[in-house]
Amino acid sequence: MSEAFSITELGSGVRFNCLPNQSVLRAMEHAGGNCVPVGCRGGGCGLCKVQVLRGEYQCGPMSSKHVSESALACGEVLACRIYPRSDLTIERRTPKATVVTQQQIQ
Ligand code: FES
Repeated sequence: MSEAFSITELGSGVRFNCLPNQSVLRAMEHAGGNCVPVGCRGGGCGLCKVQVLRGEYQCGPMSSKHVSESALACGEVLACRIYPRSDLTIERRTPKATVVTQQQIQ
């Protein structure tokens, strides 16, 4: 049986487990989480971009339109295309939708 790794999203404090052959995004969805936005699930839309702050991972193919070589080298990756090799700390890169309240409008 494969060992699951613990993934923590820094901004929300959400933590979930991820198997080595499971993408971080799939594991988050499987756990019922929504701390990272979900789009195509195939490395093409860039919605699930995260920064890996700590830990080891393996990358699958991802669009260079959304992640440049230099960003990749700095740990900026697509959560649907990374597979953990240790516990990871990540932080979402796409901004949360801005919520405008009635008070702010007046
Ligand atoms: S969900 Fe589209 S690139 Fe990850």
